[in-house]
Amino acid sequence: MNSTMEATQNEQNSEVNPPDSQPLTLSKNAQKKLLKQQKYEAKKAEKKALMKEQKQRDAERKRKEWEEKLAALSEDERIKLIDSRKELRKERMEKRSEERGQKVQRLTQAKETGQNIVVDLEFSHLMTHSEIHSLVQQIMYCYAVNGRCSVPAHLWLTGCQGEMETQLQRLPGFDKWIIEKEQQSYIERFSERKDDLVYLTADSETVLHELDPTKVYIVGGLVDRNRWKGITMKKAEEQGIRTAKLPIGDYMKMSSSQVLTVNQVIEILLKFLETKDWKVSFFQVVPQRKRSEGDSGNCQEVDGEECEEEIKESEAKKRCVEVLSHD
Ligand SMILES: C[S@@+](CC[C@H](N)C(=O)[O-])C[C@H]1O[C@@H](n2cnc3c(N)ncnc32)[C@H](O)[C@@H]1O
Repeated sequence: MNSTMEATQNEQNSEVNPPDSQPLTLSKNAQKKLLKQQKYEAKKAEKKALMKEQKQRDAERKRKEWEEKLAALSEDERIKLIDSRKELRKERMEKRSEERGQKVQRLTQAKETGQNIVVDLEFSHLMTHSEIHSLVQQIMYCYAVNGRCSVPAHLWLTGCQGEMETQLQRLPGFDKWIIEKEQQSYIERFSERKDDLVYLTADSETVLHELDPTKVYIVGGLVDRNRWKGITMKKAEEQGIRTAKLPIGDYMKMSSSQVLTVNQVIEILLKFLETKDWKVSFFQVVPQRKRSEGDSGNCQEVDGEECEEEIKESEAKKRCVEVLSHD
């Protein structure tokens, strides 16, 4: 274990044991958090099952409606209706294939000229199975959003190994993604450009005002419900690379911490690349509940990463799986 991890783990009285360590006794606070997390997982699973059932019912209803419609028609009308449906489907497929071509073009261009954004995947040993799963979902979401951008970034996944890699490989179409997948860490991969590396971390003193196209921005691939406070800052300091935080405080008041999720940070960067406007970028991405002036409703925040928000986003993510699996 390197000193960053030791330091952080000691400070945090971590609730998750590294895989090969002896089980720790959980503090009362940790037990409460674990219970909350388990309730959330159960609620999520229940919602998923309900949505699956609903989808099956909808599909069945549509099939019935279609058959009833056909049954009410004459032979000629039936043939016409079937043909027109086939035609519509063909047009839709052509449009999709054209859009896919344009997306490939944009992403290929971004390889040459796009802003480099790295997701640092070297923290998977500090996450539970479901946190890794959540991170994988966030990465998939980021990739889909980037593909739709008029000015996409060039995304990198570094330190992509072990369970993280296994879970990513399971994503539909992952092998064809136009993204850099590296087993080595960013520090090795960009060893000759160490000066260009900027680790984005909420704990930095430096505020990011502009995106410099010559720099490589790194986002910590971590879903930790803020268990590992300050870990990315410590890592960057130890490696002697620059750090910066997003200028959230200049534009919006947050209800609690300014620590955002990986997908929120990447989406904000992508929006900024497109709009050159931080305010617009923050307001479009940061959920209302995270802002202090908003009504935070009943959902409780789990130390910097939210529960309801994830549920809401899971819908969007599901749509993005559907889009990506057609690629
Ligand atoms: C869920 S956070 C992880 C928090 C973790 N405890 C840490 O020390 O970074 C995921 C990543 O998003 C980025 N991030 C989150 N909020 C940020 C902010 N306000 N400014 C810059 N980067 C941020 C960081 O790279 C961070 O590692």
